[in-house]
Amino acid sequence: MSYKLPDDFLWGGAVAAHQVEGGYNLGGKGLSICDVLSGGSVDQDRVITDGIQDDVYYPNHEATDFYHHFKEDIALFAEMGFKCFRTSIAWTRIFPNGDEQEPNEEGLKFYDALFDELLKYNIEPVITLSHFEMPYHLVKEYGGWADRKVIDFFVHYSEVVMKRYKNKVKYWMTFNEINNQAKYAYPLFGYCCSGVIFNNYEKPEEMMYQVSHHQLVASAKVVKLGHAINADFKIGCMIGFIPYYPFSCNPDDMMYAVEKMHKHFIFSDVHMRGEYPSYALKEWERKGYNIAMEPEDAQILKEGCTDYLGFSYYMTNTVKADDQGTNTGLTSGSVTNPHIKVSDWGWSIDPVGLRYAMNVLYERYQKPLFIVENGFGAYDTVEANGEINDDYRIGYLQAHVEQMAKAVAVDGVDLMGYTPWGCLDCVSFTTGEYRKRYGFIYVDKHDDGTGTMARSRKKSFYWYQQAISSNGEII
Ligand code: BG6
Repeated sequence: MSYKLPDDFLWGGAVAAHQVEGGYNLGGKGLSICDVLSGGSVDQDRVITDGIQDDVYYPNHEATDFYHHFKEDIALFAEMGFKCFRTSIAWTRIFPNGDEQEPNEEGLKFYDALFDELLKYNIEPVITLSHFEMPYHLVKEYGGWADRKVIDFFVHYSEVVMKRYKNKVKYWMTFNEINNQAKYAYPLFGYCCSGVIFNNYEKPEEMMYQVSHHQLVASAKVVKLGHAINADFKIGCMIGFIPYYPFSCNPDDMMYAVEKMHKHFIFSDVHMRGEYPSYALKEWERKGYNIAMEPEDAQILKEGCTDYLGFSYYMTNTVKADDQGTNTGLTSGSVTNPHIKVSDWGWSIDPVGLRYAMNVLYERYQKPLFIVENGFGAYDTVEANGEINDDYRIGYLQAHVEQMAKAVAVDGVDLMGYTPWGCLDCVSFTTGEYRKRYGFIYVDKHDDGTGTMARSRKKSFYWYQQAISSNGEII
């Protein structure tokens, strides 16, 4: 049985500025935190260097050169039938250091040109204000989001871009995967979310909540401000949603899974409901945490609830109360689920988990959802005739789209759209690799730094084109 999606469904694709643009020092751009991240691999962590070092390779410096190729890339998005395109604004193109008063006009002009190009094809820009790209200067001078002053810098930056693009951009999101920093023991996650390495603090988890509070206040302020700039704006939050399954029907496993889910929900609860949930307040009390808040913060959070919940969905994790597993990174604390296969990078492949995720989130908030990332990172091979037959990617996406459509048609979830991740090949966030590819569009660029940057259509390009034109019905 096939399920058709609503006529106004926002089909598209997603990337982030630092993973595609390159041009890291062009057009007056300042250094951002991802400009000091080395390459890595599935077995080797990316290194956060102190400034730029001569002997280190930084894949985000060139990325896939969207900075110079965006017209060609957008024409390909249009050919696939995109209705929207999600990317971020690189904060450092607008404010190279982050604490200036006056924006960099050249950076603003770049995004004018980008948005104009999208609108020429009736493709709606969906813009993330902060996707792991804060100015490096704010980290060095202020300690990143540990300093409350950064709220004002972020609000100022957001105000400038929301005013500038108020007639070009309607869909916004504040912080990408704000909840990644809940994995505060892994430096990359904390650093990319907020420029903070939590292990450097005596009480890393308490600091993580403090930093998150600053971001939640900043987000709420920007939501209120954005609605005043243009009442038609739709401003969402964004969480990385990896649902936790209990390993068994043992009640202890079930309750452990509930507790693990709270680690995600604390972020979306504050964004969507405007106040801290009871389980968070109890946790802080139990652990003796003291999160500094200003008297006006409660009111700010209440007045800045987000209009929709954006989320990424790649996988599920499975947890067992008496075995916290040996996995690291995104699967840390979990055990193997015998019903689910994993990708070459160890990410579980669970299409039904997407329907589950949508149900859980919609039942919790009763506000529109937007799947702003989903996809299959895989090795691609270019055949002698130039074809890239990525049937594994088509299989992954087809199964996920089917479950997504079911959640809309059968469960009645209100879903705004679907933007698969890395629609154009880009640099991996967790490993800094080029070889972990997600795209419908292949980019000839490799981990040894070689490549022509030439673009070509993969087999999945044609699959997605049909999925969009039939509004999901071919599935
Ligand atoms: C999300 C991020 O965590 O997952 C993206 O928002 C990221 O920036 C994507 O690229 C996929 O992760 P990876 O490590 O495979 O690139």
